[in-house]
Amino acid sequence: MESVPAATPNTIREIWRAQRADGPAAMLAIGTANPEHCVPQDEFPDFFFRATGSDHLTALKDKFRRVCQKLGVQKRYLHHTEELLRAHPEFIDHDSPSLDARLDIVATAVPELAAQASKKAIAEWGRPATDITHLVVTTNSGAHIPGVDFRLIPLLGLRPSVRRTMLYLNGCFAGSAALRLAKDLAENNRGARVLVVCAELTLMLFSGPKEGCFQTLINQGLFGDGAAAVIVGADPASSGHEHPLFEIVSAAQTVVPGSDHAINMHLTKGGYGGNISTREVPGFIGDNIEQCLQDSFGPLGLGAKWNDLFWAVHPGSSAILDHIDTVLKLKPDKLAASRRVLSEYGNMFGVTIIFVLDELRRRHKEQQGAGLPEWGVMITFGPGLTVETMVLRATHHTQASV
Ligand SMILES: CC(C)(COP(=O)(O)OP(=O)(O)OC[C@H]1O[C@@H](n2cnc3c(N)ncnc32)[C@H](O)[C@@H]1OP(=O)(O)O)[C@@H](O)C(=O)NCCC(=O)NCCS
Repeated sequence: MESVPAATPNTIREIWRAQRADGPAAMLAIGTANPEHCVPQDEFPDFFFRATGSDHLTALKDKFRRVCQKLGVQKRYLHHTEELLRAHPEFIDHDSPSLDARLDIVATAVPELAAQASKKAIAEWGRPATDITHLVVTTNSGAHIPGVDFRLIPLLGLRPSVRRTMLYLNGCFAGSAALRLAKDLAENNRGARVLVVCAELTLMLFSGPKEGCFQTLINQGLFGDGAAAVIVGADPASSGHEHPLFEIVSAAQTVVPGSDHAINMHLTKGGYGGNISTREVPGFIGDNIEQCLQDSFGPLGLGAKWNDLFWAVHPGSSAILDHIDTVLKLKPDKLAASRRVLSEYGNMFGVTIIFVLDELRRRHKEQQGAGLPEWGVMITFGPGLTVETMVLRATHHTQASV
């Protein structure tokens, strides 16, 4: 038997090159899903105070009504119904042990919602689920081993050898962190097709209203449940059955100096505890966003003006979007997709940004391809305070090049 020749630096380099894609990663399909239970925001204070037996707290209910009107949310979808809350009175008092019961519920409900969104993305993509090579799943809703990623294999009919990565507890930047990872996987593994899945249920955050606890009012008034999936791959098939939506040109993450206390969350016996410094968060984002944008666009040499771009911004609340509008002097329609998603679904943590991308491409399609500028930016933020920035290119401009 002939012996294998010793590897030279060139051999290794050639193998390494052959393993890598030729072009940038692109989003090839998007799917979204929500639970059936829809709650209009103007009915939510009645639902919340009735379901938690708190109607006697009239002043707090009035304050909650005022806060609900300030968040930019018109309706949300929630997994938890009044019936579910009646069956679990321990969810109302945050000091009661309820973590096990919450984890039991999300262990099934999160993978099911994640599968609904994923099936839509796979159907739009048009290839069999067994062609998915990598799976990146992220959630803040629970912590199980094996996790949602493992449960999705039988639910979606993925191949057992799909390479899985599970990201827990990344707060509201979870969706963009998963997309950032998917870009690297797709560009570094020729032929890879990465299914990115993000799913959230706010049940882990649920607790009844309590005098002096503003955080509960924000938790209940702002956040909603949903799931979203994106298929990411480089070098889309030339046979015409893969249709890139957005190329991912660059991806970055940074921590805002001095913001460690701004958003934090931890597991307790009563679900999630933690705090959002709601008065400070819009300022932290506003003071730092321009630098994040310059750091992302500067090296690309595009000379981009902010109003020349399309915008996908995580809609943390309308105060945050207003602040970004003011600081960057954006034209009124630039954050329209973010505002619509916030209004229709609430803040679904990391899921929200994928809904915003879906909304952008929907608007673009409705306007027969004339709706989006070529270059765009995706920005999310979350615990840390962390800012994720992604430069995107809408691929309809020169379909032939992708
Ligand atoms: C919370 C928020 C809606 C308040 O909006 P606002 O325009 O500042 O409204 P106001 O100052 O009128 O506050 C509304 C009420 O909430 C109270 N309030 C606001 N922030 C508060 C805080 N941090 N602690 C206690 N009470 C607070 C106000 O006192 C006021 O009560 P009142 O109606 O009894 O007078 C707004 O600051 C916000 O959206 N912040 C960012 C939210 C966020 O961090 N989202 C998650 C990021 S991923």
